[in-house]
Amino acid sequence: MAQKPTLWLRSEHKPNEARTPITPGTAKQLIAAGYNMTVERSGARAFADNAYADVGCGIVEEFSWRTAPSDAIIIGLKELSEDLGPFTHRHVHFAHVYKNQEGWADFLNQFNSGGGDLYDLEYLVDENGRRIAAFGYWAGYVGAAVALLQWAAQQNNTSIGALHPWASRDLLQQEVQAAIDSAGITPKAMVIGAKGRSGGGAIELCERCAIEVTKWDMEETSAGGPFDAMLDHHVMINCVFLSAPIPPFTTHAHLQSSSRVLSVISDVSCDPFSDANPLPIYNNCTTMDQPSMRVVDVESHPLDLISIDHLPSLLPVESSDEFANALLPYLLDINQLDKGVWQRAAAVFKDKCAQAQNGVKA
Ligand SMILES: NC(=O)c1ccc[n+]([C@@H]2O[C@H](COP(=O)([O-])OP(=O)(O)OC[C@H]3O[C@@H](n4cnc5c(N)ncnc54)[C@H](O)[C@@H]3O)[C@@H](O)[C@H]2O)c1
Repeated sequence: MAQKPTLWLRSEHKPNEARTPITPGTAKQLIAAGYNMTVERSGARAFADNAYADVGCGIVEEFSWRTAPSDAIIIGLKELSEDLGPFTHRHVHFAHVYKNQEGWADFLNQFNSGGGDLYDLEYLVDENGRRIAAFGYWAGYVGAAVALLQWAAQQNNTSIGALHPWASRDLLQQEVQAAIDSAGITPKAMVIGAKGRSGGGAIELCERCAIEVTKWDMEETSAGGPFDAMLDHHVMINCVFLSAPIPPFTTHAHLQSSSRVLSVISDVSCDPFSDANPLPIYNNCTTMDQPSMRVVDVESHPLDLISIDHLPSLLPVESSDEFANALLPYLLDINQLDKGVWQRAAAVFKDKCAQAQNGVKA
């Protein structure tokens, strides 16, 4: 078996990113398995530097990965910019360059010139092509929470303001509970995609707030929308994963129904730019600064939509735990990069690097 390399957890270059793919808990298990763990200091990470030191990690200066030993594997969560190249190490992170995003070829050419390798976290897939680590559960939990906060705000003719991370799921749930209590009535919620990761998180938040939830998945939507049943709920949380178009769950015309109870949709799936968007009632994501947009602008009964594409950032501790624990079994095998998920990710990287070198888009 190949010798175990140093795993170097870098600080995130992306501002305010508090999530991490290795927590102190998973670092401890990697060290127990014989890996040498080095962790860069970080003021943004949701876990303190000391928590890593306490389990046996070596602590080094922030952004010192470029001077790491050549055999270290540099692990982060989010992308690096091209000007940090040329990349000479083996890197693990979400690079967001394989779908020919802006600057993809220049970025990959920094690997071509440096001789390094990239194992993109989005392309760590099992033999069925399913991602082995994702942030779904807490996306659903937060997506449901923000929807209910917006619904409660509507009862006072206001809207929620800018969102900032919560320190824990309990604090978030308590805030939602207090907002519902102050509204004086209990809303009814519907979750579509209820059997998936994010659907599970959305249901947990609602049930912890004693909210009745209608749970739909493939079977219930098979007849094809628009669905009048959706309009009978105060809040709908969409958590489906679609790869091909289906009839819409609702439309602008459908939302004009005079019997509509629904006043908030939280689109956790958040895919307004895709042909497979089952909610063709909006064109742009909302943001942490402005979390909701008014889709039906009727003063007596408006409808607001929330569509934030990085919801898990709002619960960085729990999201990191979910992701890091899913990644751990594969990190334990990272000394065998020619096998399994690592080998599959390497094949995509080699293919895209060749395209970047030849100036070809696939
Ligand atoms: N907004 C965010 O920050 C954020 C974060 C993570 C994931 N996501 C997105 O959320 C979506 C769901 O992710 P996930 O990890 O929960 O996926 P998942 O695969 O775990 O679950 C998807 C669920 O959708 C169901 N489904 C598929 N087609 C359906 C249909 N036609 N009708 C009803 N149900 C249907 C599936 O049966 C499954 O239960 C994905 O599009 C993902 O990209 C968004």
